Amino acid sequence: MKNPTIVIHGGAGRALSDKTREKFVREALSSIIERLWQGLSAGAGAMEIARQGCIALEDCEHFNAGLGSAIQSDGQVRMSASIMDGTRQSFSGIINVERVQNPTVMAVHLQQARDRVLDGVGAVRLAREMRLPLFDAVVPRRLEEWIRQGRKERSDDQAQVSAPSSTEVGPDDRGSGTVGVVVRDFTGALAASTSTGGRGFERVGRVSDSATVAGNYATEYGAVSCTGIGEDITDEALAARIIVRVQDGMTLDEAVGASIEEARQRERRLAAIAVDHRGQMSWGKTTELLLAVGRTGDEERWAF
Ligand code: GLY
Repeated sequence: MKNPTIVIHGGAGRALSDKTREKFVREALSSIIERLWQGLSAGAGAMEIARQGCIALEDCEHFNAGLGSAIQSDGQVRMSASIMDGTRQSFSGIINVERVQNPTVMAVHLQQARDRVLDGVGAVRLAREMRLPLFDAVVPRRLEEWIRQGRKERSDDQAQVSAPSSTEVGPDDRGSGTVGVVVRDFTGALAASTSTGGRGFERVGRVSDSATVAGNYATEYGAVSCTGIGEDITDEALAARIIVRVQDGMTLDEAVGASIEEARQRERRLAAIAVDHRGQMSWGKTTELLLAVGRTGDEERWAF
């Protein structure tokens, strides 16, 4: 029997100025990790806990995944999610799916499929095949954000101040709130899952890191889930890079620390949570804030 370990995150970005929101986020993370811990303690496997964890986080409107996802430039919500089984080293994911409640359910379904990563067109067809009910993930906070951003872009245009295109919008809090789970179960099996509504106000067709091995990766050595600006995470190949370093002999803290430090030097905005084959947990960030909590044995550790 191995010591189980779990870390979950609800995104990274600027410090939350709204203390009430911080309280809601803390309460949500606290109750979700408690539920997952009970399941893990009762013998649930790493993949099952990764599945349950991302679904619970998607159902919580405080995060940018599932309900409460950020809205893209054309006014639609498109979500991406992935899950990776460290034992089988098997990745599956869904990219830019519309009008479903839990993209993670689809990523899990694809674990057993021949075609394991689907884009928006394939995702819509799969959602129909799976008979998933139509779901509206928009919440008022996101709609207000989207309207504000639209006004800002129009006024920038009118003022002829180097008008940003949807691909040039600077990093802010819109896209923060991606969720993820990394877990090691009683048998030592590892899994990672990540889900996101994307960066917010992005160009249609933009692909997030969350359903790639840059943002979500697991092997028999460790499991990593990333959050932050997807382009930055992809440029760093962050999740895979951390695991390769563990495989090459670094401790988990060293691997996370070195990878985050390199990213900091390149002025990336990102964060990662990780567990390894020894049951260690770790995280790192270049952003002001990482919303994460981890548990192993009696120890519960918060990142904020
Ligand atoms: N990390 C989520 C995204 O940028 O899409």
